[in-house]
Amino acid sequence: MWRADAPAKAILFGEHAVLYGAPAIAIAIDLRATISVAKSNKWILNGDEFDPKVNPHLGQLISEFGTLQSPLSISIDSEIPMAAGLGSSAALSVASGLALSTFHGRNPSTETLARIAHKAEASAQGGRASPTDTSVSALGGAVIVNSSIIKSLQHRWSIDLDGPDGHNHWDVHSLSIPTSLSSIPVVIGFTGKSSSTSEMVEIVAKNMKNPSFRSSMDAVSELSSHAINLLSEGDPKVIGEAMTQCHSLLKNIGVSSKELDDLIEAVLPFSFGAKLTGAGGGGCIIALSDKPEECADAIKELGGVPYVTSFAENGVEILT
Ligand code: MEV
Repeated sequence: MWRADAPAKAILFGEHAVLYGAPAIAIAIDLRATISVAKSNKWILNGDEFDPKVNPHLGQLISEFGTLQSPLSISIDSEIPMAAGLGSSAALSVASGLALSTFHGRNPSTETLARIAHKAEASAQGGRASPTDTSVSALGGAVIVNSSIIKSLQHRWSIDLDGPDGHNHWDVHSLSIPTSLSSIPVVIGFTGKSSSTSEMVEIVAKNMKNPSFRSSMDAVSELSSHAINLLSEGDPKVIGEAMTQCHSLLKNIGVSSKELDDLIEAVLPFSFGAKLTGAGGGGCIIALSDKPEECADAIKELGGVPYVTSFAENGVEILT
């Protein structure tokens, strides 16, 4: 039996904008998805019989990283809320890739895992998917995805994708962030409302035809580029302020909601800064805070679900 796990991600800056040429800055967080794979005489998923051919996401991964010919018993155990903007499916994809290929005696590189998982995500998101979630889940730490190489960062790989709006090119980088920042607790507040990334990216694609939305998107891009320098300075107060500012801009591009705005208002008195994270619409907020328990109480009071977690250094890994 082989077991692998991979972390969730939270985007600090640049969600949506990364699909329009801007950098996205994302961190891995310590909520993990675990998958185990064992030999079996029929296909089993979490104790029930299943047909991988009718499960498009898992079926595609099984055929990419192994074979549909020999049945397996697969168990999935995830701490990451689904459809909540935390990259649960990306984490599952990269963890599945590692567990399946190790089971079949292969030893894929982190880059291969991230590439194949991105292909699966892109087909699930109607061709509009940046490699942000899959790269962070594979690499761990802090990752910057941009439309060209940023010389001051460690370049990992490039990814190209033909989508409905034309050709996309991304360069994936790692950034080591100072302990003054990486040691700050990360508080996630789930609104309890799920959100579909593919629907949200489609709404934004329509909104982008409107010049006022486009100028807010330009401001998100500018802030995200500036934040790369701020991150290396490692001052949580400065990063927090920029995150809160980023949330106002994301509101202008139509991806926030009353629930997200209310959670942000509730945690701001106890945090350095807060914003929605991921595709928006529903899903989660992220706050950087040295008073995580106060933030968690404020989130609960509004009916949200808090996760007090931390920055995760480790990406996808084999557990057995
Ligand atoms: C989803 O986690 C982030 C989006 O920017 C979509 C993407 O990057 O594929 C909304």
